[in-house]
Amino acid sequence: MAVLKIKGGKKLSGEVNVQGSKNAILPMLAACILCKDFVRIRHCPKISDVYAMIHLLETLGCDVTWEDDAVVVDARTIQSAKLVEQQARVMRSSIILAGAMLGREGKIEISYPGGCSIGTRPINLHLKAFRKMNVQITETEENMICTTSRLTGEDIELDFPSVGATENVILAAVLADGMTTLRNAAREPEIVELCKFLRKMGASITGEGSERIVIKGVTSLHGADYQVMCDRIVLGTYIAAIAGAGGEADIKVNCVSQLGEVCKVYEQMGVTIEKTDSGLYVQSPGKLNKVDLIRTRPYPGFPTDMQSQTMAVLTKAQGTSIIIENLFEGRYKTVSELRKMGASITVEGRAAIIKGVKALTGANVEAKDLRGGAALIIAGCMAEGCTTIADIQYIERGYENIVDCYKKLNVNITLA
Ligand code: UD1
Repeated sequence: MAVLKIKGGKKLSGEVNVQGSKNAILPMLAACILCKDFVRIRHCPKISDVYAMIHLLETLGCDVTWEDDAVVVDARTIQSAKLVEQQARVMRSSIILAGAMLGREGKIEISYPGGCSIGTRPINLHLKAFRKMNVQITETEENMICTTSRLTGEDIELDFPSVGATENVILAAVLADGMTTLRNAAREPEIVELCKFLRKMGASITGEGSERIVIKGVTSLHGADYQVMCDRIVLGTYIAAIAGAGGEADIKVNCVSQLGEVCKVYEQMGVTIEKTDSGLYVQSPGKLNKVDLIRTRPYPGFPTDMQSQTMAVLTKAQGTSIIIENLFEGRYKTVSELRKMGASITVEGRAAIIKGVKALTGANVEAKDLRGGAALIIAGCMAEGCTTIADIQYIERGYENIVDCYKKLNVNITLA
């Protein structure tokens, strides 16, 4: 198995581009099923989660081709409503195909979805909403069979603003009979992007980005050509790397306004973040201040997807910082790996207490999940000596061309 090797201790510099957004493209690929026409999505990241989603679309009978960085989906030829193989089980986002398939075919048989090992990740909110929209669900030990004679628009209030449940309701409601009003909806930028994309295909949706989204069912959607936005978590990861390792760099990106609380936290550490014509300029003083308390929350709060990377950065900050992880209970698995590099972190329930140390040292570590793996790359850049990261398949789920991107930032990194 390939590993990443990083020789740390060097300041970052240079210029890097930000890839297309993973969490936006996955539901958009699912949305392609809703239309019996060609859909072309540009700036599509070449990452393993995207390949896995394409494989699922092909399993259903879609024809999917690449044209440089664009993916073209022809969903005219869907033949199956069954996704019960390994690929559906290992990928959390496979559940997003349920809403789209119910809209398109009125049925789907699907395995319970998997994903990163970051927590239990239930789907009760998705199923509760589907049931309200006239979907009958039969659950077996491994699979779920969802069928409907006619999806109906309804008033739905989510018990929690789940990103996936919000997307699934939107996807199911687009071709449903009547109007769906979704309350306590997630407000993440990726939801806004999905709605913009669906509108380009002819859907009638208003209110995305707020907690109340209204979807008026239409009879059909048509093909579209769309460029997916940049990945705000990849952007945040670069900010974290520059902050932690020191130095300065330009990041070319079009989603600067979507950083939510991330900028505030890094500015508290002493990092300069300035908007430029092409994106952001980031400068780190090297020695960083602690941050008293970071709580992960739904957007626009501090994203759980930036928690691990930020923890890595805080391992060398001056003083003690506290992180509270509110979304996923399994997201502290990287702590043991950071400790191997000399970090001082204790975990008490949802809280992680990070005491800044003078230096990290390179070590042999393992990626435990996607963002935890990204955190180890950052720690590797911050450490003296060589860090070897195993199990990089987790990192490849969400980061495109990771080696080339970090090389552009002056990092001594190789795939071995
Ligand atoms: C999405 C993102 C993921 C991000 C997360 C939170 C994608 C592909 N993934 O995941 O990167 O970390 O949002 O911003 O977009 N929950 C329930 N019941 C449900 C659904 C969710 O209890 O039916 C809980 C979860 O256990 C979790 C919380 O709600 O504690 C948030 O989950 P959710 O917003 O659904 O995350 P995902 O859509 O899985």
